[in-house]
Parts: sequence; C-alpha cells; structure tokens
Amino acid sequence: MLVAARKGSPLVVGIGKDEYFLASDATPIVEFTSRVVYPDDEEIVVLERGREIRIKTISNVEKTPEIKKLELTLNQLEKGGYPHFMLKEIFEQPVALANSMKGRVHVNPEKITLAGFQENRDKFLAAGRIIITACGTSWHAGLIGMYAIEEFARIPVEVEYSSEFRYRKPVVAPGDIVIAISQSGETADTLAAIEMAKAAGAFIFGICNVVGASIPRCAHGGCYTHVGPEIGVASTKAFTAQVTVLIMLALSIGREKGTLSAEKYARIIRELQDVPEKMSGILAKNDMISRFAKTFTYAHNFIYLGRGYNFPIALEGALKLKEISYIHAEGYPAAEMKHGPIALISNEMPVVVIAPQSGTYEKVVSNIQEIKARKGRIISVVTEGDTCPIMS
Ligand code: M6R
Repeated sequence: MLVAARKGSPLVVGIGKDEYFLASDATPIVEFTSRVVYPDDEEIVVLERGREIRIKTISNVEKTPEIKKLELTLNQLEKGGYPHFMLKEIFEQPVALANSMKGRVHVNPEKITLAGFQENRDKFLAAGRIIITACGTSWHAGLIGMYAIEEFARIPVEVEYSSEFRYRKPVVAPGDIVIAISQSGETADTLAAIEMAKAAGAFIFGICNVVGASIPRCAHGGCYTHVGPEIGVASTKAFTAQVTVLIMLALSIGREKGTLSAEKYARIIRELQDVPEKMSGILAKNDMISRFAKTFTYAHNFIYLGRGYNFPIALEGALKLKEISYIHAEGYPAAEMKHGPIALISNEMPVVVIAPQSGTYEKVVSNIQEIKARKGRIISVVTEGDTCPIMS
C-alpha cells in the first residue's frame, strides 16, 4: 500500500496497467500512461496493488476519483534536434502562438471568441477594477495586460507581485476581478494570493498553460494559453502566449463595452493573425543575432529600455539576460534614465533599446541621444527598414 497526501505542493497520480505513478506534474509519467488523477489540496490518495485508486478528504470522506486524459505527448517532451529545450521552445513560438489563437482569432469577419471571457462576460462588463497577480515573467505579461485592458476596455487595473499581494493587507472586495497568470499553474505565492482574494469575494480568472494545474482548478473561470509543455526554466513561448491571451481578453472586453471602435478591434485582430509569420521572420535571423551577441560578451552589465508596451518587454529582456547569461541587467522605462541611472552609462555598459515605430518613437530617439552623448553603446530593436542613424 502506498499513501500520498497533498498539501500546498502539486500532486498527480498516473494510472497505468497494473501500476500507479506519483509525481508533481504529468511530464515524467506521460511515457507510461495518459490516465491521471489530480488530487485536491488536503486529499489523501491510497494506492494498492490490484485495487482501484481511492481518494479521501482529510476528514476521511471517500471521493470518486476523477480520471482525466492527458493531452501531453512524449514527442512534446523531447528536444527535437535542438541542443536544449529553451531554444526549441523559442523556435516553437510561431506554431505555439498559432495554437493559442486557434478557434479564438477569426478574420473575415474579424472576431475574437474567447470562451473564458464569454462565460464570464457580465462580470467583466460590470467590473469596477481588475487586479492582476503573478510572479516573474508572468508578472511582466501582466503589466502588458494592464496597458491593454486600460487602453481598450477603460477599466482600472493594478498589477501585483503575488508574493507581496498575499502578505500585505490589500483591499479586495466582491465585484473585483483578480486575474492570476501562471505558466505552471502551481506557483505557491500566486495560488495563495488567489485563495486570499477568493475568500474576500473576488472573482478569480486564471490564465495558465498547464491544463488541470492547481491555479486553473482554484479559479472561477479562465483561459489556457495552449502552447504545450514549457520544459526550459526560462519562460519564452509561455510569455508570448500569455501576452497574446491578455490582448485577446482586452479586445473582447473593450469591444463588448463599446470602449474600443470596431475599426481598431478589426485592425488589431488582423495584426494578431500575422504575428506567427512575423515571428518566423525574426527567428530566421537567429545566426546573425547570435554572431552579433558575441561582440558583447565583454560586458558585465546591460540596461534594457522601452516605453509604453515596450517597458515590460525591457524588464523581461533584462530578466532573461540575468537568468541565462548570469550577466547583470536592469530594465527601465526609457525616459526614467535621465532621473539618475544615466550616470551609469559608459561604453562598458551596452544599452538595449526597444524602439519600434509606435507612438513614442520620437521620444525614444531623444532618450537614445542622451545615452549616446555619454558614449553609451546602443543595441536597438527597431521596425524593419528603420534607417535612423541614431539607432546604431
Ligand atoms: O509558472 P509561473 O508562470 O507561475 O512562474 C512564475 C515565475 O517563476 C516564472 O515566470 C519565472 O520568472 C520565469 N520562468 C523566468 O524565465
């Protein structure tokens, strides 16, 4: 007899032929079985040779185990010829994002059908405010979500680190919507934050990747990102998919509320549809980018700058550099440089500037001029065809 209990951390039971498996997520057992049970918190699983799985609550009440079929395949867990999972997952993005938008983003006519939103439409339309809670990369996606929801749907949004939110005394009330973003759906701080918000009467909407994980199960509603397993520790395709889902959500709320014009709604949907192909275009430049990166291996510090939607992208870029290259990096809103950090600029510290042709382009150009005056070395990420000499 083997007894397992769940408290806080994730647990999954795999049901094979004459055998059982216990793991913290489904990836190590998919090779042996696709039938799984996810016990809830404070539940006890009893496994015995030759007997059916039994589940009891902590108060000793027997429950009927809910057996689910895994959508995961072994193929998704292999590196497919790439030297490591992170690279594989970066290159998977065009297909992964197309999967995330499949059946949700339509053209002719342009329309978003996001079941998670439609099922909870009235709650979103009545919401006086939205709180987004997440950690790390998912928190950066949340910032982009805030910009999009405020721009398209005109609902005030706050973005909170789950680890801060759960330990301070935030004001959360019935009628508030709390959006929890998590790739794994198991991050303890995010789970605790939503449990606290749920107890305060908020409506919990999860945006997660791992199907059946604790956060989607604890939430009242939500959307999956559907990009397949992310094995690499550094989040890549999960982040771009979180942003995609948040944009789809913001467009849906804005259109239903009437705060977003039909024309802008249609234009952004067409742009979304084109993202996978544009991503493939960037990925095709991989070798060139890799050669270029070698010229900066001397640096021990980097700064990433962006404005508007590209400010959270700058934060995420800096996080990725720290996490993967062990090089110190900071992300800043480009205009904040002049309020102190510009003192750090020298030719020893490369500055990555995200400066596509958007509303703040001219402003970013002037921020770059200030950095160049201090002999800063600029690496700019610009719209194809941009020939502005200040950008290089
Ligand atoms: O699974 P989650 O999205 O909840 O994880 C939160 C963070 O730990 C995660 O986003 C982390 O910052 C990234 N993997 C870093 O690349």
